[in-house]
Amino acid sequence: MSTDDRHRLVVDEVADHVVTIGFDHPEKRNALDRATVEELDAALRAHARRPTILVLHSTTPGMFVAGADIAELRDRDADDALMSINAGLFERLAAHRWPTIAAIDGYALGGGCELAMACDLRLATPGSTFAQPELGLGILAGAGGNWRLRELVGLATARRMLYTGLRLDGEQALDAGLVDEVVAPDELLPRTLELAGRIGRNSWRALELTKLALAQHRSATTSFDVAAQALLFESDDKRDRM
Ligand code: COA
Repeated sequence: MSTDDRHRLVVDEVADHVVTIGFDHPEKRNALDRATVEELDAALRAHARRPTILVLHSTTPGMFVAGADIAELRDRDADDALMSINAGLFERLAAHRWPTIAAIDGYALGGGCELAMACDLRLATPGSTFAQPELGLGILAGAGGNWRLRELVGLATARRMLYTGLRLDGEQALDAGLVDEVVAPDELLPRTLELAGRIGRNSWRALELTKLALAQHRSATTSFDVAAQALLFESDDKRDRM
């Protein structure tokens, strides 16, 4: 099997009602290519019917997700942007019936940060790095970054992260409200699973309805961002920068 045919995710039922989804493409620093998007979509569908807390993590210590696959992005056009490949995935992730938790150790850049923000909760190690470097690549954080970041960290920090590429480590992300808890690397998965177990002791029906209730009060959608991205995807500036 060539590297490219390999599965991108390792999915494990680690406890009753708790499934881990591990990004497992270290050669590309877990960049979100089409194959990863399709596998994650399939995992969401597979775990929709039976109540299950999903824990998203990386199988590689010190590397969460290095963002959208830049090699694929370079060739995407307005039509691809309007198809909302990553934005659509993160919408489906955010709308997943049951709670999702991101366990982050290492780089969560661009789409990696957006992916983490689309989860319900985020735990991170002190050495993690959160950033939205899209503007330097001639595109924008169109897969939820623009509004989810603002929702979590407020307008001032969102502006600094988006305009300047400001990077936050785990403790800074905690202070900013981007993550819920900071834990040592060897404690990350155990602590996340403990939290998942704690959440799963609730009534599943009540959990599902609470998640739906909270989703009703979201502050924005990605509609504008997707249209704006379509414009940027066809620019020479983007092609040069990528
Ligand atoms: N898309 C596609 N490929 C990526 C990638 C991405 N977002 N991030 C890393 N890779 C690939 C590199 O091209 C390289 O591939 P190669 O071995 O075929 O040349 C491989 O992963 C290793 O990357 P490298 O930069 O050597 O690893 P590193 O450990 O020194 O650095 C990062 C890791 C994440 C800091 C660095 O890869 C990086 O900055 N990536 C881009 C992040 C980014 O801008 N994301 C936003 C996209 S919108």
